[in-house]
Amino acid sequence: MKAPRIRFGADYNPEQWDRTVWAQDFALMNEAGVNLVSVGIFSWAELEPCTGEYRFDWLDEVMDGLAAAGVMANLANATANPPPWFSACYPDALPMLSDGSRLWPGARQAFCPSSPVYRKHALRITRKIAERYSGHPALEMWHVSNEIGNHNALCYCDASAAAFRTWLEDRYGSLEELNRAWGTTFWGQRYSEWEQILPPRQTTSFGNPTQDLDFRRFSSEACLEIYRAERDLLREITPEIPITTNLTPNHLELDYWSWAPELDTIAVDHYLKANDPDGHIELSFVADLSRGLAGGAPWMLMEHSTSAVNWQPRNIAKRPGEMVRNSLQHVARGADAIMFFQWRASRFGAEKYHSAMVPHAGTDSKIWREVVELGEVLDRMGEVANTTLDADVALVFDWESWWALEARSHPSADVRYLDRVHALYRALWETGITVEVVSQNVDPSGYRLIVIPSLYIADAEIADRVNQFVSAGGCAVVTYLSGTVDENLHIGAPGLSGAFHDSLGVRVEEYFPLREGEEVALDDDSLAAVWTEMVHLEGADALVTYKDGPLPGVPAVTRYRYGEGTVWYMATRLDRETVGRVLKEAVKTAGIKPPIPMVTAPSGLEVTRRSGESGSYLFLINHGTDTAHVRAEGRDLVADRDVGGTLSLLPGRAAVVREESG
Ligand code: GAL
Repeated sequence: MKAPRIRFGADYNPEQWDRTVWAQDFALMNEAGVNLVSVGIFSWAELEPCTGEYRFDWLDEVMDGLAAAGVMANLANATANPPPWFSACYPDALPMLSDGSRLWPGARQAFCPSSPVYRKHALRITRKIAERYSGHPALEMWHVSNEIGNHNALCYCDASAAAFRTWLEDRYGSLEELNRAWGTTFWGQRYSEWEQILPPRQTTSFGNPTQDLDFRRFSSEACLEIYRAERDLLREITPEIPITTNLTPNHLELDYWSWAPELDTIAVDHYLKANDPDGHIELSFVADLSRGLAGGAPWMLMEHSTSAVNWQPRNIAKRPGEMVRNSLQHVARGADAIMFFQWRASRFGAEKYHSAMVPHAGTDSKIWREVVELGEVLDRMGEVANTTLDADVALVFDWESWWALEARSHPSADVRYLDRVHALYRALWETGITVEVVSQNVDPSGYRLIVIPSLYIADAEIADRVNQFVSAGGCAVVTYLSGTVDENLHIGAPGLSGAFHDSLGVRVEEYFPLREGEEVALDDDSLAAVWTEMVHLEGADALVTYKDGPLPGVPAVTRYRYGEGTVWYMATRLDRETVGRVLKEAVKTAGIKPPIPMVTAPSGLEVTRRSGESGSYLFLINHGTDTAHVRAEGRDLVADRDVGGTLSLLPGRAAVVREESG
């Protein structure tokens, strides 16, 4: 049995380099403590330069070199981009936009997810690679494709149309059922033959919203089908090797709740948005969502950056210490692998200005010194692997609601799904408690508080579970436009009050969205924006009401004692302080405590605890501007020294304390 360890490494693209560089790579990987690299992700054209003609010598050498250096491979099946010969032979396999125009090859993911011919060739190269490297000593895991669906999830071509119809037949069983679900009596859209149904291509006016939603559901599933087909083949050839693919949970396209059970281990990519001054909070959100996808188990950070990326308008370099801090944040929230894109900065191509573990400046650089430092820290933290976190609060996140809420022909274009998700998450982050991000299939009874930001699509089942949870003593926070429609986007019997109507103790009569930039004053002296609605109290108390705007005197925030529990409802887009106040009250009412008392800790201190058979580990990360002083006993695995009593953490620094028991 190998000792537990945190995996550490990067995407490795040796095909971009001369063989002489490879030996240096292996030596440097050893120097940095790299133990896993993702190899061959974009190498299909190198491995099969012409149809059926294979060239494996270079990859053999790389795999052997890695094995000799003791570095393991997360070997790709190379299907992320088909070679130019493929697109030349099969132009119909290129993705099509909703206006009927085709995209051209020349970047990556130049294929339609439903293309049978792409699938055939992808499985052929997958089989070749799997058979060749099955049993290779460097092979640790399989990396299927790359960020599946990142650029090509929605394809509107005829192959997609045919696959969409098959998917719809499966879902609805009959045209009658589809017509009912899609509400085709509206605007005379009734279908009389399956062949009449198309993907939601560009139309004269607003298309059918349920058709749009189903097309998104289908597209997520079509991308998952690619993963399943390639995974099944790999599993058949190497049943003992774990298989994964890298997810991008902060992207809109795919519903990862249905993907998660199909991966042997959850692996995600995360890149900071450089223009977000609080990017570390969004990072925490994605990490908590990744842990949610993993069902609480450890997960892998498959890609992040050592410094700047190349694809944002202004690519901001990471400040000294930031990369180590980002990495430890992911570990603090359950990651057991810290990997980067990429190992060595490319000299050419679209990503030549993207940072890497070995930057253009070489090893006499801030980046390399920090890479080596991080490698040492992660090596000392090996014992943290396999430990888990406890969370008393669940925040519901739902890709379908994200897709549907932002549809055209809605009351306000300013209502954005992530806006409330991030606002509520941030307020929880600032209380210092640990949050798990969960799907709407969650059983709330394992938590004390459930937070439901704009869960636009909710069925009676989640509403029942929330009602039962609250009446039995749980707490819930719900924001506007939650449970408004069912899975077919139909408004239900409680009208605009939505599926959570019973436990909210309010009735929503009419929406009063605000003009662009308009603000309304509330009686607690805060301002709200974007959204207001005519709310009537039906048992709930008004905590805050509007002072002006379209609804003076109407409740904006309510609280309802429902059975033994309490539900807060936010009927408007509250400002940051007010969201914070409401969430603080909910956390207090639910009796949830942060891992250490936060009263004495300055703002910006992030604290989590991972524990398991190997022990209990307190993670402290200081994002603030003041030194934090916290009580801790044990050994700080970052600084590699004992801590007795008080630990003083400078701004920007992190500590991971193995806590002494008893
Ligand atoms: C990821 C992708 C990598 C690389 C990276 C750059 O989305 O998987 O291949 O392009 O972005 O940040």
